[in-house]
Amino acid sequence: MFRTYTCGELRSSDAKKTVTLAGWVQRVRKMGGMTFVDIRDRYGITQLVFTDSNAELCEKANKLGREYVIQVIGEVAIRSSKNQNIPTGEIEIIVSQINILNEAKTPPFTIEDNTDGGDDIRMKYRYLDLRRSVVRANLELRHRIAFEVRRYLDTLGFMEVETPILIGSTPEGARDFVVPSRMNQGEFYALPQSPQTLKQLLMVSGFDRYFQIAKCFRDEDLRADRQPEFTQIDCEMSFIEQEDILQTFEGMMKHLFRFVKNIDFTEPFLRMTWHDAMKYYGSDKPDIRFEMKFVELKEAVSGHDFVVFDSADYVGGICAENCANYTRKQIDELTEFVKRPQIGAKGLVYIRCENDGSYKSSIDKFYSQDDLKLIAEKFSAHAGDLILILAGGQIKTQKALCELRLEIAGRLGLRNKEIFAPLWVIDFPLFEWDDETSRYYATHHPFTSPKPEDIHLLESNIGEVRANAYDMVINGVELGGGSIRIHDSKLQNKMFELLGFTPEKAQAQFGFLMNAFCYGAPPHGGLAFGLDRLVSLFAGLDSIRDCIAFPKNNSGRDVMLDAPGIIDDSQLDELALKIVKN
Ligand code: AMO
Repeated sequence: MFRTYTCGELRSSDAKKTVTLAGWVQRVRKMGGMTFVDIRDRYGITQLVFTDSNAELCEKANKLGREYVIQVIGEVAIRSSKNQNIPTGEIEIIVSQINILNEAKTPPFTIEDNTDGGDDIRMKYRYLDLRRSVVRANLELRHRIAFEVRRYLDTLGFMEVETPILIGSTPEGARDFVVPSRMNQGEFYALPQSPQTLKQLLMVSGFDRYFQIAKCFRDEDLRADRQPEFTQIDCEMSFIEQEDILQTFEGMMKHLFRFVKNIDFTEPFLRMTWHDAMKYYGSDKPDIRFEMKFVELKEAVSGHDFVVFDSADYVGGICAENCANYTRKQIDELTEFVKRPQIGAKGLVYIRCENDGSYKSSIDKFYSQDDLKLIAEKFSAHAGDLILILAGGQIKTQKALCELRLEIAGRLGLRNKEIFAPLWVIDFPLFEWDDETSRYYATHHPFTSPKPEDIHLLESNIGEVRANAYDMVINGVELGGGSIRIHDSKLQNKMFELLGFTPEKAQAQFGFLMNAFCYGAPPHGGLAFGLDRLVSLFAGLDSIRDCIAFPKNNSGRDVMLDAPGIIDDSQLDELALKIVKN
């Protein structure tokens, strides 16, 4: 046998056994007449001992370099000085035979939890980075989650079906990645932004309960929680209502928390309308690990000759508990924070609730102590609290206040990664107005059904129409979302019309789905979770890259494979493509 045990397996109860281990050399230490070598594999690290009673063997051990691949035979012995930090720390192997299976160049960074390698170099040598146990643990967690997802959904009769990668454009609203076709020159496939239309077709086929752990591709600006290719847990069900979907997938999330994180959620997840999420948190993905809800102040503060408030559409604030002792410098820092171009507030107003019951404020020229007291009461503020107020256009100011709320919570240590606060955001608007192009877009996608009681508004006030759409949000991260779909072709055509598709354009892009709906489409709906986001939430990571085996960098490059890359002229000729250089 190549090995009889792994490097993480042996304990004191194995003393005196003759064993064979194989793995990588983590470290070599020479101490007097003895040489200690740490051998590593996926399962752990074991200490090997070479004594100078066998000079030839010792000589071989002294020549081992980091990351050499070796096989050793030896006897398990109890260590005189035990290492409490590793599970095999009670034993060591007195080696009687060593076989060097492969030599290794010195790696460009140390393969340890706290490595000395920067991001670029670790990504270039990702196969070495993946030897580090912290990185591997994230992938083990990913495997565990995917496995538990399959177990849960299989028990409920969901069937995993693969859908193709070379397809046409899908309706998620990002830019497509396209692939030229050699056999159909001048034509292109688009990679799926999600399996959305295909899973709806599977419902028409009568599959009833579908899921897939599916690769999706979106050519959009990258962020810590966005990769150009990512993985969805994609699901669809027939003959259901919104409540069935919420129950089924709340159940899935509770199952994952129980079996992967050992956390039991016994209460139903909180539900919040999109309207309330925006009003109280300025975000459709509020972090509800802490309160600090917005208080709207426009009415309460108008008419005091303070032009900033009088001229604003919206005035709102938050109350930071026990922050009245913030120094001038700290408040200046917060002011600079909200004035950053990406946040865009013009300034920040504060009211300090002093311990003696008085108020100190940047606007006390315009507001008396009694006025400030009335404002403080709106926040139920106590002595020692700090009220922070922003004013301006409604949406922009709410967004800025949302950022300020998160910043303060971060400073107060309220964004604890070990606490999970799940939430369903429901009743999204069906349409979203875009100022730049002066038209409405589907908030979710064009197949999302309006709430039946709002259908009459489609003719008169489409901005007010609510959708049967929902997102699952945990700790301010949008983990997943979906909707009940339109299964009636007439309503679907109306949607296309409202979204500015001509009948010809709608037919060209989604004709296959509309035609399928003419052959008996069941009522259906579904949702998709971002697997990468779920894993990084469970692992407490700052970026989803850390739970992806071979991720892209922020410019969308795979630095290890050096992709994307140029292709040969002959390949371009076959595809009938010409590169025009600017
Ligand atoms: P949506 O576009 O909301 O819905 O995507 C579902 C979930 O996928 C994850 N996600 C991403 N993760 C990493 N990188 C990205 N670039 C990225 N984009 C999205 C998020 C998100 O919540 N077809 C619909 C679902 C449905 O209606 O059933 C869809 O794709 O976690």
